[in-house]
Amino acid sequence: MNISTMENKNEESHEPFRDLSAYLQAAREEERKTIAREIHDELGQALTTIKLDLSLLQEEVLHDASAATIRIRSMKERVDETIHTVKSIITKLRPGLLDDLGLTAAIEWQANDFQNRTGIVCDVSFSPEEMNIGQEISTDIFRIFQETLTNITRHSGATHVDVLLNIKGLFLELQVQDNGRGITPDEINDPKSFGLIGIRERVQYWHGRVDIEGKAGRGTNLTIQFPLPPESKP
Ligand SMILES: Nc1ncnc2c1ncn2[C@@H]1O[C@H](COP(=O)(O)OP(=O)(O)O)[C@@H](O)[C@H]1O
Ligand SMILES: [Mg+2]
Repeated sequence: MNISTMENKNEESHEPFRDLSAYLQAAREEERKTIAREIHDELGQALTTIKLDLSLLQEEVLHDASAATIRIRSMKERVDETIHTVKSIITKLRPGLLDDLGLTAAIEWQANDFQNRTGIVCDVSFSPEEMNIGQEISTDIFRIFQETLTNITRHSGATHVDVLLNIKGLFLELQVQDNGRGITPDEINDPKSFGLIGIRERVQYWHGRVDIEGKAGRGTNLTIQFPLPPESKP
């Protein structure tokens, strides 16, 4: 789709905007379910193990001091892992951050957190610095950004990421470029690439376009472009 067809679509697309709140409600419900499952699976499992360890420790304290010492050490590690799990679940709940900070500051926060966690340098640039765009579209952009960073961590082997968020006329553009191994055409088009499919669905909802490009050994570039929804137009 080129830019002029996006403009036309945007003018004609009152219907999807009317369905927006229902759509968002369903999406949020789905996200809440995922997080609840994660709390149940990961946190529930960790706490059950710690409880079991405590029962064993109770015996060892009485009869086998050295076994107790070893168990205490491994329990400390498990508690550390559990703290890490809690932090990561909180991060997933973070789009609350968007309400407080706005999109550019939230993206900056996420990039900084990513850099600290992974050691992959993440440079961010915005033009303009402040963007007054709608809450719902901001949430989708933020989610796309998170998924892209997760992919870079998992798959790219990159050491450097450049993030650009620009408003160009009536379009908003997000570009994320890494210097890793480069995604292949097969990976881009794989019907089991659910993360990428999720990104495309979010972008299609807003009548935008996605462009993913890999250069072998030289990195992956993801560009998304949205026509800004009417309430955000300058
Ligand atoms: N930045 C990247 N660099 C290299 N390969 C990537 C990158 N992002 C995605 N990929 C490849 O594309 C595939 C599909 O990504 P995605 O749909 O998010 O699925 P998942 O992350 O669950 O594997 C990944 O499995 C990976 O092989
Ligand atoms: Mg993924």
